[in-house]
This record gives sequence, structure tokens and C-alpha cells, in this order.
Amino acid sequence: MLRLRPMTSDDLPVVRGWLDLPHVARWWLADTTAEAEIAKTRRRVAGPRSATILLMATWDDVPIGWCQWYRWADYPADAAAMDARDGEVGIDYAIGDPAFVGRGVGTALIAALVAWARQARPGAGVLTDPDAANTASRRVLEKNGFTLVAVRPVETEPADRPMAIYRLPAVGPER
Ligand SMILES: CC(C)(COP(=O)(O)OP(=O)(O)OC[C@H]1O[C@@H](n2cnc3c(N)ncnc32)[C@H](O)[C@@H]1OP(=O)(O)O)[C@@H](O)C(=O)NCCC(=O)NCCS
Repeated sequence: MLRLRPMTSDDLPVVRGWLDLPHVARWWLADTTAEAEIAKTRRRVAGPRSATILLMATWDDVPIGWCQWYRWADYPADAAAMDARDGEVGIDYAIGDPAFVGRGVGTALIAALVAWARQARPGAGVLTDPDAANTASRRVLEKNGFTLVAVRPVETEPADRPMAIYRLPAVGPER
């Protein structure tokens, strides 16, 4: 069964290996390099108070992917470009092990990630922006109740491609 746990620096080699695989690189390395991505991840995992929380996804305790969440308010320029609402959180995710792609695990991963973020931020809305061409990523959001807000470039993203902005509304009083 799918579980999430905090990422540690011991997990970085396996994440580094996944970044090189074509199904991940296509979306995660479209505008950056594996080295830059791992350096950023290393800082966030090691940092005592990182604004971005990194998690490993495991299946029967074996790592199969990773994900992260953050408060948009901690990234004000990005929040403005995304039209984020007060209190909303952002998410990013990937299944690294190709054997686990396309079997419904990504749908479960989104549900687990939203639940994890809402443990820290009860009822928070979730706003995220996969590449508009990333059909599988869009579907797993839709299957978790996210609705499409807009398809447009986001000016703080490194490239000018259209992104598909999806929102899962806040539950209960907005915070
Ligand atoms: C995106 C990702 C998390 C989705 O997880 P997954 O386990 O593969 O997805 P699921 O099996 O739960 O669901 C995928 C859905 O997309 C659909 N889908 C996948 N590829 C598709 C395509 N090329 N065209 C149309 N639909 C497609 C599937 O049919 C399924 O929908 P359905 O259940 O309605 O039939 C995973 O593929 C992944 O990590 N990819 C690489 C990294 C990545 O893209 N990360 C997201 C960056 S924003």
C-alpha cells in the first residue's frame, strides 16, 4: 500500500536516479537540470525550517516516488503569478519507478499528499499547475476533485508554455 514519509538526505541518490528517467525528466527537467534540482532538494531536506516539505512515497515500504508541499504565501511572487488565495498550499509530485506508473498509484499519491498537507494546514485549499500537456498529471488532479481554473503561461515559471492551473477548494473556514 502507498504511504508517505519525510524525505531524508539518504533518499537523494534514488531521487537523482529517477530524475534521469525519461518519464520524469520530460516534466521535471524541462527547464532545469538534475544537478540543480537535487541541489535544491538537498537544501530543503537539510534545512531546519524549509518552506517546502519533501516526502517520499513508498509501496510496501519500498520507495517508488516523491512529492512536496508548501504554502504559496512563502513564495509571494509565485503566489501572485498563480492568483493563489490566502492560506492555499501548492504541491508537486512524481512516481519515479516506471513499474508503478499508470496503475492508479498517482491518484492515491495526490490524495495522500493533500491529506498530509492538511494535517499541518487543516482544510487548506490546494493550487497547482502541471504543464498543460501533462495529461496524466491533470487526470490525477481531476480524479481527486481538483477543478481547472485556467490554462495559461505563469510568469514566474521558467518557460512560456501554458500551464493548467487546478484548485481543490479550502474546506471549512478559509485560513
Ligand atoms: C503524473 C503521475 C503522478 C500520474 O500518476 P499515475 O499513477 O501514472 O496515474 P494514474 O494511473 O493514477 O492515472 C492516470 C490517468 O491519466 C490517464 N492518462 C495517462 N496518460 C495519458 C495520456 N497520454 N493521454 C490521456 N490520458 C492519459 C490515465 O488513463 C488515467 O486516467 P483514467 O483513470 O481516467 O483512465 C505519474 O505518471 C508521474 O509521476 N509521471 C512523471 C512525473 C510527472 O509528470 N509529475 C507531475 C509533474 S506536474
